[in-house]
Amino acid sequence: MSGIVGYIGKKDAYAVLIHGLNRFEFRGYDSIGTAVLAANEFQIHKHAGRLAAYKEAVGENLPKGNIGIGHSRWATHGIANDINAHPHVSNSGRLAIVHKGIVENHASLKEQLLKEGFEFKSETDTEVLINWIEHIRNANGYNLLESIQIALNQVVGAYSLIILDRDEEAMYAVRKGAQLVIGVGEDEYIVATDSTPINAYTDQVINMEEEDVYRLVPGKEVQVLNLKNIEKTPVIEKLEEALDIIEKDGFAHFMLKEIYEQPKAIVDSYRGRLNATEAWVRLGGITEYRNKLNKASRIIFGACGTSWHAALVGEYLIEEMARIPVEVEYASEFRYRNPIIGSEDVFVAISQSGETADTIAAIELAKEKQALIYGICNTVGSTISRMSHAGSYIHAGQEIGIASTKAFTTQVVILTLMALQLADYRGHISKSQLSTILSELERIPDKIKEILKLDDRIKAIAKEYHEANNFLFLGRGANYPIALEGALKLKEISYIHAEGYPAAEMKHGPIALIDEDMPTVVLATNDSAYDKIVSNIQEVKARKGRVIAIVNEGDTVIKDIADHTIEIPATLEIFAPLLTVVPLQLLAYHIAVWRGADVDSPRNLTKSVTVE
Ligand code: AGP
Repeated sequence: MSGIVGYIGKKDAYAVLIHGLNRFEFRGYDSIGTAVLAANEFQIHKHAGRLAAYKEAVGENLPKGNIGIGHSRWATHGIANDINAHPHVSNSGRLAIVHKGIVENHASLKEQLLKEGFEFKSETDTEVLINWIEHIRNANGYNLLESIQIALNQVVGAYSLIILDRDEEAMYAVRKGAQLVIGVGEDEYIVATDSTPINAYTDQVINMEEEDVYRLVPGKEVQVLNLKNIEKTPVIEKLEEALDIIEKDGFAHFMLKEIYEQPKAIVDSYRGRLNATEAWVRLGGITEYRNKLNKASRIIFGACGTSWHAALVGEYLIEEMARIPVEVEYASEFRYRNPIIGSEDVFVAISQSGETADTIAAIELAKEKQALIYGICNTVGSTISRMSHAGSYIHAGQEIGIASTKAFTTQVVILTLMALQLADYRGHISKSQLSTILSELERIPDKIKEILKLDDRIKAIAKEYHEANNFLFLGRGANYPIALEGALKLKEISYIHAEGYPAAEMKHGPIALIDEDMPTVVLATNDSAYDKIVSNIQEVKARKGRVIAIVNEGDTVIKDIADHTIEIPATLEIFAPLLTVVPLQLLAYHIAVWRGADVDSPRNLTKSVTVE
């Protein structure tokens, strides 16, 4: 998804912008642009395509100046071409803007501007936005800070913006529904969508709050206005991230590195939150809202994509252990319905990025209806973590690969802890059961390490199947969401069509697709549905389908029926998803690599979907 960056200070602005845009390389984008300001003139370069091609197009004659803005665009309004790329400049040439997000009422604003004689070069909502601000300024003679405030009160949408005025040595930053961070250096400011462009220069940051408009001038006091006229004092915080977090450490891709990081990420996610010997689990947010959660009549999960799959595992875990009714909703559907939800319900939002627009809108709706909001996020200080009444970070560490891997497994760990803590509060679990379960959870990282040793074998299987056009993934119980997740991983990075199904549903339609050209991946670990899964495999084989089965070590039954078995360590049934997902991540990864696909930056995808 789009990323924006701005710099004002004494350094070469272009170099800072390029550094920042490099950090956004894995967010997913289709064009790049920069505007550097010097001697009351914008030097603008914008091109469709990747950063390397952009730098080549700019050539040797680099823009010079100490103020600038940059943008990596993921097209929403208008195709990816040079004209639609940001920055956009107002009709007078005085204002330049980079914008992340969308302006929903851009059509009506544009209509009014056209009537007043404004002209447009691009198809973007962004060009409408900057001219709307200019129109307000022209009409009323306000200063730019006030004009931005007034203009944006008439704009509908979720966005973050950085704006420059040709005639001022100042930078304006606005946050409304999309994260924006200000790095505070010595006589300089770096504004960016996240802290990755900032952390090389300073560890002092201001996490902008919703609807704040900042005017930044080095050496002068920061000016803040809020769109609702709430008075604000900026709070400078220390950035907690290490500077080297985004190196590949010798792995070919971030996705592979992140798959291999799962044992460590899982330990980080539960560290300090459990004690197997003493049999306790403690998630701070759950402890804080114990009374409310004890009385909760229902838990509603809202999420998208992989996080939605984690929610499905959460449903299984919470109903199984805590005996609280759970519903799992696509955030994008929930928000457009008139859902039945009230103060006795708990809305649990799951989001790696904490910036997903649909999940944010679903939270707003649940909040309006008085539900308690519990956020499960990876990104510290993200919009969702700030909007939630309580929550838990998953502590997966930064996830760069667009295909989510370690965020998924750590989300599942947090959901397990949540289920166990609630089960304990509600008296559905004995201390000895709790101790047994927690001890097994502590063995999961080592079991994942065992699975990672199968990488070469999975790579060989991937080679055999990488030319297939369709894949089917089957699982039952807690492994059903893993079938969905395996199919999603494969689609995202290899562009092979894949479907995930509850295994028993196969007979109700998808079985018609099975032939020797359609491989079926079956999650067949030794749990309560094992015999049923064996029958499902036989049904596939009877139709000449080829089967790759994920089984437990020592399985002899399926070994004789399936074409390939991948043997993984046994665990408790509730933990099967944490193990079965790993071979599927590796399978998708290797298939994509065999096909020559760009694993870390798959086409059309973006790391966080901040548009609705
Ligand atoms: C996962 O591989 C995806 N790229 C995608 O489905 C993602 O999980 C979804 O967009 C939700 O993102 P979030 O967890 O940041 O809210």
